[in-house]
Amino acid sequence: MRPTFADLQPAPPDAILGLAEAFRADPRTDKISLASGVYVDESGTTPVLQTVLEAEQRILHGQTTKLYKPIAGDPAYTHAVRELLFGAEHQALAEGRVETLHTPGGTGALRVAADLVRRLRPASTVWLSSPTWPNHPQVFDAAGLDTRTYPYLDGARGGLDFEGMLGALAAAAPGDVVVLHACCHNPTGIDPTPEQWEAIAALVDVRGLLPLLDFAYQGFGDGLNEDAVGLMTMARSGRELLVASSFSKNFALYAERVGALSIVASTRPEAHALLSHAKVAVRANYSNPPAHGGEIVATILLDPALRARWEDEVTAMRERINGNRARFVEGLEGAGAPIEPAPLLRQRGMFSLLGLTTEQVARLRTEFGVYVVGRGRVNVAGLTGRNIGPACAAIAAVLAG
Ligand SMILES: Cc1ncc(COP(=O)(O)O)c(C=O)c1O
Repeated sequence: MRPTFADLQPAPPDAILGLAEAFRADPRTDKISLASGVYVDESGTTPVLQTVLEAEQRILHGQTTKLYKPIAGDPAYTHAVRELLFGAEHQALAEGRVETLHTPGGTGALRVAADLVRRLRPASTVWLSSPTWPNHPQVFDAAGLDTRTYPYLDGARGGLDFEGMLGALAAAAPGDVVVLHACCHNPTGIDPTPEQWEAIAALVDVRGLLPLLDFAYQGFGDGLNEDAVGLMTMARSGRELLVASSFSKNFALYAERVGALSIVASTRPEAHALLSHAKVAVRANYSNPPAHGGEIVATILLDPALRARWEDEVTAMRERINGNRARFVEGLEGAGAPIEPAPLLRQRGMFSLLGLTTEQVARLRTEFGVYVVGRGRVNVAGLTGRNIGPACAAIAAVLAG
């Protein structure tokens, strides 16, 4: 019998995780990784938050069962998540128009959202920013949905190509999905202004689009509430909306796979109906969510003292990121790199996009052992007192040609 997989070629390595493997295999001792999408502290490690450790102690002592969670997750968790995202007083919550499911990370939330759209509106196209997180097209493709892109980066000015974005989305068909990074756009760090969010919301209404907000970095830009400005704008006026949120970064719970899909409908019965379809998608996918991460998040968010300490931990991560960004720009200028400081300083979140060519990115890696993603996406959290000098010098060298 002929082996079925005899002619199979290997799939290409994951754009970001593949780079991490290459970094690990690099024998140079002075190599620098600015490629990963995780927060690291000054020692280059990703510690467990103190509030997470404390919540885990409580869970360990109080746990009596490992029974399955409900398909949509524990109500305590989904309630806490909804209040964190929208604010406890939000009208949509009071009207019972928001349903939330606990998902395995933000990726799980995106996939459940994709499955839900595929189930209810199989002909919809999903519009993604160009550039975007490389897993986005893959997730929607895997769910059987067509994807298209809208321009996002104005290469010349290093800002948002807002006209290009609105122009492309004006061609979207009613019912199409538009994926918007709620804050700290990955990989550009460029977010719409509050006025631009208003204009995007108006276009969504005129075209009859379904916004899907990908909220993976709440608290890493300007603050937990400040970073929700896009979500708050979209969630006004009874608009239908999906929100894929993640606690991988702001709780540093990467490996626990904890996130949520929130469905904002125009009426309570519609929200219930949508939830029931999302639950079918979950059941056919991973059946029900993993317990531990959700229990940690609920323990922290529902205890006012722990929550206050967690907010301080988020602030500390954000302040280190923002401080690093300023030092990075200073370091690049000091090394003589021909960069425009203002657009780089305006970028938000962990990432800074330098707009390098493929050749420059390859030179950074082969000649200098400096690893960055795509067109020069730098994780500014990865910069430390020790590596910032050599990293800036290497970037200046490849920019000099
Ligand atoms: C834009 C964006 N969306 C979603 C995710 C998914 O996060 P998670 O690890 O929670 O699946 C990430 C993670 O890097 C991301 O950058």
